[in-house]
Amino acid sequence: MKLLIEILRQASRTSAPYKQTIAYEAPPEDTVATLLKRLNSEEKLTDTSKSPVGSIYWQCSCLQKKCGACAMRINGTPRLACDAKLGEFKRGRLVLEPLKKFPTVRDLIVDRGVMMENLKAIHNWLEQSARQSEKTVDLRYDASRCLQCGCCLEVCPNFTADGSFYGAAAFVPASRILAQAEKDNPQALAAYYKENIFSGCGKSLSCHHICPAEIDVEHKLANANAVAVWKRYFR
Ligand code: SF4
Ligand code: SF4
Ligand code: FES
Repeated sequence: MKLLIEILRQASRTSAPYKQTIAYEAPPEDTVATLLKRLNSEEKLTDTSKSPVGSIYWQCSCLQKKCGACAMRINGTPRLACDAKLGEFKRGRLVLEPLKKFPTVRDLIVDRGVMMENLKAIHNWLEQSARQSEKTVDLRYDASRCLQCGCCLEVCPNFTADGSFYGAAAFVPASRILAQAEKDNPQALAAYYKENIFSGCGKSLSCHHICPAEIDVEHKLANANAVAVWKRYFR
């Protein structure tokens, strides 16, 4: 299929972004990830104004929706490049941009280190004994599938990289720990959960519909809130 691909490029963290448009033909069953690999393997690729196209920087690892590295904005929607088939874009127009909530490192690569820092800041780990209840095994498994891709934060109206609200990328993993913590043995996480998640979330649930791992984000939010209230972590 014929494609007109517009890519928002940026040479370094501090340089100004610019658009580059490339006309190209690729099979509709290819993904955006495969397309980027194809473009980078071309020796003399030029854009629509006949200027040379240098290597397009982007990230991937698994190419099967398991690592979250390839998250980017595709026609304005945060998605995984390895999960976006070209055939979906019937008019052949593709706009590829880096996620906007994080600092751009180069082209389509962003620095998502803040997500790990936020998990560390809320003490997202068990400090003492864990409860391996059969009742919570499905919830804990589902929460463990979070890719830390950042798509949920991209659409969250309340999240900013330098803000104190940490969004679904924090409460999905936190829901797993809260479900395991002993009632009479509250984790430090509970206090941070109240401060950095519970009180800042507007419950709009944009994060629920965007998650590429199809985690039931609404369930994780509701459960984490309920557990925190039942166990009186908010006293
Ligand atoms: S909850 Fe979903 S969208 Fe958010 S970081 Fe995890 S996998 Fe990505
Ligand atoms: S429910 Fe709304 S405010 Fe809360 S994390 Fe999801 S998108 Fe953000
Ligand atoms: S490359 Fe791993 S999720 Fe796309």
